[in-house]
Amino acid sequence: MIDKKQIIQAFEYRHACKIFDVNKKISEEDINFILQTARLSPSSFGFEPWHFLVVQSPELRSKLKESAWGATAKLDTASHFVIGLTMKAPLMKYNSSYIHDFMLNKQQLPENVVEQKGKMYEAFQKSDFDLLDDRKLFDWAAKQCYIALGNMMTSAAMIGIDSCPIEGFNQEISNKILKEDLGIDTRLYGISYMVAFGYRVNEPRPKTRRPINEIITYK
Ligand SMILES: Cc1cc2nc3c(=O)[nH]c(=O)nc-3n(C[C@H](O)[C@H](O)[C@H](O)COP(=O)(O)O)c2cc1C
Repeated sequence: MIDKKQIIQAFEYRHACKIFDVNKKISEEDINFILQTARLSPSSFGFEPWHFLVVQSPELRSKLKESAWGATAKLDTASHFVIGLTMKAPLMKYNSSYIHDFMLNKQQLPENVVEQKGKMYEAFQKSDFDLLDDRKLFDWAAKQCYIALGNMMTSAAMIGIDSCPIEGFNQEISNKILKEDLGIDTRLYGISYMVAFGYRVNEPRPKTRRPINEIITYK
């Protein structure tokens, strides 16, 4: 078991790092560890509606600055810069071949279970969560991708690596760059967030959070 105090210390240590030390690079072992925690993240129905694009090319990072106003200093200084991609309707809709193939070959479910689970997923999209609209479906899938984001940032903090989650970008322009410069099929994937990793230059201001009794209610 891991010491609770050390875990809370990691949560205290994590902050939205604004500028990173350009002279310090994250080792391959450590970045792989962080990405592995994204891979092991849970997702609704277990469908893993994500892909992580690690952008290391200075030219591509510079291009991203045209749309990512919240990431300028991070694109210049982060050791590793990740774009969190989320699957769109052609992959995520209940009747897509991705979903069928995923249940069969990735989750290795028997045919009859694939059929049952497929029906549940269809009902979930049609009535439980009312997801039969491309934007709703994308936003629902993006929620799964944010779980991976949280896990990456926490696991990074646990090994002394800083991060910054980024939503400070124009979706339309960023998705255009995604298609034209990063070669991603934007009919299938969209950007949900960006996240920078590296090592801090400055100490953050003390953390502010509402007290626990304001945010928790037991009934
Ligand atoms: C989804 C998300 C998007 C964010 N976008 C940005 C951003 O574009 N640029 C930035 O500097 N910080 C961004 N932040 C950082 C928040 O401002 C920060 O997490 C919050 O103020 C709490 O501070 P702390 O993370 O240092 O504890 C984002 C945080 C989250 C969770």
